[in-house]
Amino acid sequence: MPYNFDQIVNRDSTSCVKYDLRQTVFGNPDVLPMWVADMDIPTPDFIMDALRNRLNHPILGYTFRDNEYLQAITWWYKSFHNWDIKAEWIDFCPGVVSGISHAIRALTQPGDGIIIQPPVYPPFFSTVINNHRRVIENPLLESNGKYYINFELLEQQAKQGAKMLILSSPHNPVGRLWTKDELLEIGSICLKNNIIIISDEIHSDLVYPGQNHISIASLSEELAAITVTFGSISKTFNTAGLASGFAIIPNNEVKKKYADELDASGAGMGNAIGMVALKAAFTPDGKQWLNQLMRYLEGNVKLFISGLQQFTKIKAIEPQATYLIWLDFRNSQLDDEKLSALLIKQAGLGFSPGTEYGRQGSGFMRVNVACSRLTIEMALEQLKTVANHF
Ligand SMILES: Cc1ncc(COP(=O)(O)O)c(C=O)c1O
Repeated sequence: MPYNFDQIVNRDSTSCVKYDLRQTVFGNPDVLPMWVADMDIPTPDFIMDALRNRLNHPILGYTFRDNEYLQAITWWYKSFHNWDIKAEWIDFCPGVVSGISHAIRALTQPGDGIIIQPPVYPPFFSTVINNHRRVIENPLLESNGKYYINFELLEQQAKQGAKMLILSSPHNPVGRLWTKDELLEIGSICLKNNIIIISDEIHSDLVYPGQNHISIASLSEELAAITVTFGSISKTFNTAGLASGFAIIPNNEVKKKYADELDASGAGMGNAIGMVALKAAFTPDGKQWLNQLMRYLEGNVKLFISGLQQFTKIKAIEPQATYLIWLDFRNSQLDDEKLSALLIKQAGLGFSPGTEYGRQGSGFMRVNVACSRLTIEMALEQLKTVANHF
């Protein structure tokens, strides 16, 4: 069944962060919002119908994650990611950020060093800091518009006693899919140095045609034993407001520590609706919809990047996964403040400032292209109005 992703949905007044907080965040209620990572593309009907169907029952009481829910996840990982996971490895997280925070508390001690790889998703910094652990920055290296891992530095940091690595896989904001060799090298450093890996794979379904995501834990039993993988339907099917994700933890002992931490904060229950959505999403219908979505998003990425190249020297890092494009404005001579002001006030564009992703993001902006083609065309027209600066 062909889906129509061109549909424009008015999201105003739904208490939605992306639209309804524009005045608060950008000081301009009319910016074209291409920032926070959810989609303007509606959740497909086969999920919405399942939710509506559940809501026909008038009681939304305490709910457990049943076998059907666990089987939906194992089926998805086998058929979509070629990873044979067992139902008993699965636990809950209220959201992936919350899951990472619980894992940090469960598996490290206050004061421990935790490695992250900036530029990276801002909560990787804040969850470490807010849990009174130390951020160890292992910045990605950039070469010719592609980002790589600094393995030499990673090894040094691992030897100096880091306890955990939080991996963004695929990487937000640079859109990299890590290769098998890269993951094996990360894994080997972590195994040698007793480092727990938190693999945040929330974007792992959003992979462009011809590309392939690999879960680090799927590469060997040894790696599975030191890895906590987080996943969710929230990015893939645009259900972030349901705040329900999952953790895959093959090591029993690690899983118990994680589960105890979740229990200690009373965060393990989850919501009945999140479970219903996941059961409807991780299905053959979900796979078919996602294939079409990725082709549409690929068209958005190509249109945006080729459009930019026609009238500016702004460099775009073409993503292998995620609907996020990392834009390099460093040729512009504008500092971060002036760049933001120009884009917001003159071009009317709401992008995410690169500095939110660490100091390595200075001179960059992250653009969310999970929207209609028309929105991409409007964004290009609006950028054109300030093209003389770039
Ligand atoms: C890498 C990454 N992890 C986690 C999240 C948020 O996950 P959740 O809403 O489930 O906490 C995001 C959202 O943008 C993300 O990009």
